[in-house]
Amino acid sequence: MKDVNPDRVFIFDTTLRDGEQSPGFHLDANSKLRIARQLEKLGVDVIEAGFPISSPGDFEACRRIAREIRGATVTALARAVKEDIDAVWGAIKEAENPQIHIVLSVSDVHINRKLGMSREQVLKRGAEMVAYARTLCDNVEYSPEDAGRADIDYLVETVETMIAAGANVINIPDTTGYCLPYEFGEIVRRAIKDARGSDKALFSVHCHNDLGLAVANTLAAISAGARRVECTVNGIGERAGNTSLEEIVMLLNVRQAKLGLECGVNTTEITRTSRLVSELTGTPVQPNKAVVGANAFAHASGIHQDGVLKDRLNYEIMKPEDVGLSDSRIVLTARSGRHAFHHRLGRLGITLTDGNDDAAWQRFLQLADTKKEVTDEDLRKIAAMSETNGHEGNGHPPVTDQLNDHNHVADTLRHLIFG
Ligand code: KIV
Ligand code: ZN
Repeated sequence: MKDVNPDRVFIFDTTLRDGEQSPGFHLDANSKLRIARQLEKLGVDVIEAGFPISSPGDFEACRRIAREIRGATVTALARAVKEDIDAVWGAIKEAENPQIHIVLSVSDVHINRKLGMSREQVLKRGAEMVAYARTLCDNVEYSPEDAGRADIDYLVETVETMIAAGANVINIPDTTGYCLPYEFGEIVRRAIKDARGSDKALFSVHCHNDLGLAVANTLAAISAGARRVECTVNGIGERAGNTSLEEIVMLLNVRQAKLGLECGVNTTEITRTSRLVSELTGTPVQPNKAVVGANAFAHASGIHQDGVLKDRLNYEIMKPEDVGLSDSRIVLTARSGRHAFHHRLGRLGITLTDGNDDAAWQRFLQLADTKKEVTDEDLRKIAAMSETNGHEGNGHPPVTDQLNDHNHVADTLRHLIFG
């Protein structure tokens, strides 16, 4: 590809197509449009808006997105049949930068068991449909489905045939999430090196996460020369999902010095985008999810909290601000340490007097053993109780004994412990 910065990785977001087609993630046209607007703010290069032939609602969603979105290329998916391609074109032709995306299998498993065709027939059909799509649109992407399990020589032949037919983007999918990173990297390397005309196309990859390797395989493909990656917000998508947008983007960002690559995403919009997708699909993000999970910037164990409070570089490889969060979280649990306890009290403007400090800490530990997280509200009550009962000195009675007191604070603590 001429005139393209060789260090630039283009981000193709398929949240609204591969993400939305997975069970439980359905979005109506209004929700799709809201997500597309947010993807525009996020700065992705391509938005795959849907699969227009699948339903009138999806056709309409794609059309509204194509009309409104500016800056990003808008694409939609077609099988290698004229009706699908016409539907895509009908839906996206008003986009500033439209692209038709055609998918047709390349693995023998699919060719024999799904399509019931021969390799020659598949090649012919693919080339005819690419050529047809090119009569409508200058920008045509071809995805040889299940490339991860295909015969490599046939894949190379497919790639060069589709480029010759007019495809200017070749997307290599590991449709079933089967490949190991070094295998997938090698497939992409061979496709780029051995297919005649490969210099005329942009190479893209599309990985699924069935074995938890989608991001690793995407990185291997980038290392092998792919410069466009298909991904989804929160990693949603068929079965175990797709390459997660936030993970691959932050990987490029955090390890920029090592990888020497860049992308155009405004990372500070990542959290907002993740939350919008979660809200509109009604599906929460798992707490330990990299980059966007609730725990991604939370520190709960005493050792980690102490380290982070001394210098966040001790346990944070990226800044919460870089993904649009205001700060990391110091979470108080039974595994927390005194440094964190005082830090959180300090943030509430509470300073314990020396004599009450130990008592408050013991009360904290007793309470922490009874619940998942000690909240600001709990801390205020613990502090108030410690001040009230400060005269008890070192004999700190267990919190549960103190619940027999008739004072208001103890009642509250009983409520906190026993619900
Ligand atoms: O997984 C896949 O192969 C796809 C193609 C349409 C790229 O989603
Ligand atoms: Zn897919």
